[in-house]
Amino acid sequence: MTEEITLAPQAPAASARVGHGDMFTGHMTSSVWSPQDGWRPSELLPLAPIPTHPGTLGMHYAQVVFEGMKAFRQPDGAIAVFRPWENAHRFQRSARRLAMPELPARMFVEAIDQLVAADGHELPAGDDELSLYIRPVMYGSEPNLMLRPSHEYRFLVLAFVAGGFFGDQPGALSVWVSRDHSRAMPGGTGDVKCAANYGPSFVAQQQAAAAGCQQVLWLDSGQRRWVEEMGGMNVFLVRGRGPEAELVTPELTGTLLPGVTRDSLLALGARMGFRVRQERVPIDALLADCASGAITEMFACGTAAVVAPIGRLRDADRQWTIGDGGPGPVTLALRERLVDVQHGRAADPDGWLRPV
Ligand code: COI
Repeated sequence: MTEEITLAPQAPAASARVGHGDMFTGHMTSSVWSPQDGWRPSELLPLAPIPTHPGTLGMHYAQVVFEGMKAFRQPDGAIAVFRPWENAHRFQRSARRLAMPELPARMFVEAIDQLVAADGHELPAGDDELSLYIRPVMYGSEPNLMLRPSHEYRFLVLAFVAGGFFGDQPGALSVWVSRDHSRAMPGGTGDVKCAANYGPSFVAQQQAAAAGCQQVLWLDSGQRRWVEEMGGMNVFLVRGRGPEAELVTPELTGTLLPGVTRDSLLALGARMGFRVRQERVPIDALLADCASGAITEMFACGTAAVVAPIGRLRDADRQWTIGDGGPGPVTLALRERLVDVQHGRAADPDGWLRPV
């Protein structure tokens, strides 16, 4: 029997009213690649539509890769970007996977510096929930429809002021376990950040929404036995409580995205004294452990999602409550530590912040 899920209405905080991608800043950077000239230097331009030939190759054949990262206001009023080199290197891996030219990592990071220097003032001070979300994207820009890699590319960086990704949703997410759809398959593109990984997920996201859930939990495409990730974010579970708590996330099998936030939380969690493990997580064991209480907390994490507690899992037949259904202490402590590092309030021994 499926229980009714009630979403208690809450007064949204100011930052919760800023949707993801609603408030673009005033500029973008743009650079083009051709076989003759390679990458041309990045130009800072006013944000404006780009005339696009209807036969643009990237648009037809999904030769598009992108990144997501954030910049945060620091205690001295300056702005710092969080771990941009990680995104630069992942962008290169994504490009290689889609037979696109790699962008030099330095050029990637400097384009971000250029945009943040121009538009950083648009990030209001005094609201921890707000950040500057940075969206680098590269696509095959050649007007040609032969089924082959594009001969021209454009690299853009956009930014917008971001609030909470989940808007005014309640404190813990309800998550739909997708048994019908797959996000990625072995040998596919699940471990890189390409546009084609996201559009096909929307139908499962719609199913989730129809069941009162805010997110989808993806299983492997073969046996539908292993937990992989969520829609645009990684997933963690917590076993046990207090100092004995163990932090577990699905290992990188090649079909899930190696998230920068995932990696940051593994490092921060270990530094905070938790045992951290990357391992294969069978869905049946996960659900049994949620029911028995062996799993005490679950959360989603990502650049956009930050650290978002999960209160319930459900599928077409059943529902499982995690812990007491609300945000757990380990989740909240990890979130606080991450946000403190990002805002320059906690030690940054690995130099994750890049001041602009
Ligand atoms: C991010 O967290 O930055 C993502 O790219 C996920 C999604 C919003 C596309």
